[in-house]
Amino acid sequence: MTDQQKLKMDTLKTLNIKPVHPASFHYDSKNHMQNGHWSIPIVLDTLSKAQYVIEIGAWLGHTSISFAKLSTLDTKIICVDPWDPQERHCRHFQNSSKKDTYEQFVSNCFANAVENQIIPVRLDSISASKLFNYTYDLIYIDGDHSEEAVYQDLKHWYPKKSSDASLICGDDWTLFDNWAGHNQEEFNNPQERSHSSAFNEEDQKYMVRRGVKRFAQEQGIKTIQSFGRLWWFEKR
Ligand SMILES: C[S@@+](CC[C@H](N)C(=O)[O-])C[C@H]1O[C@@H](n2cnc3c(N)ncnc32)[C@H](O)[C@@H]1O
Repeated sequence: MTDQQKLKMDTLKTLNIKPVHPASFHYDSKNHMQNGHWSIPIVLDTLSKAQYVIEIGAWLGHTSISFAKLSTLDTKIICVDPWDPQERHCRHFQNSSKKDTYEQFVSNCFANAVENQIIPVRLDSISASKLFNYTYDLIYIDGDHSEEAVYQDLKHWYPKKSSDASLICGDDWTLFDNWAGHNQEEFNNPQERSHSSAFNEEDQKYMVRRGVKRFAQEQGIKTIQSFGRLWWFEKR
């Protein structure tokens, strides 16, 4: 056993946890990788060439692990999340599994052999943005979903140094206000769509969408793309 393998084994022993529901996690992970809502050509293409990917809001690591597997072994996925036990997703996981969300995230990364690519940053998005000093290729925003939080995520991360073909994307374009579920039609039958960054009456129902549009307007970004719940625009 190499020193690195031994270190990994020791780390796992120290954590003393296993992936939650191993079968379903692995199934979900594979399925997620192949059918994740972000599995569209522009995201896959950017991932395949990326050096630094930033994920805001990583939770149990499903997307982090998929991103790691879809990029090269040299790609680093910076996973920013406070993993606060009181946050709605973490609280839900902990109440049902009686396990710590952050430890489970780490365990899932090891179980999927992507630990060398994943850099967890246990901070809120804004605090982490102040420390980040690399050149990013892709930002995926999936943290606090309020209009203001999405807007602030974009405001703090977008101006960081980026590669020529960098992509800004995120989850939950179809999510109604106050987590009141998704627009099922759009969610179940995704179509690629272009949206003007100008506000329209429909936007009043969707919290993430308003945050993205507010930022896009400020930056003079005229068009936002979506495919079901995924939204994106390229940084020019
Ligand atoms: C929807 S889950 C993320 C799911 C994950 N991206 C995936 O695809 O599996 C939202 C996550 O955002 C995190 N979060 C909430 N507020 C945040 C903030 N201000 N900065 C960073 N992450 C935040 C939560 O702790 C939670 O784990």
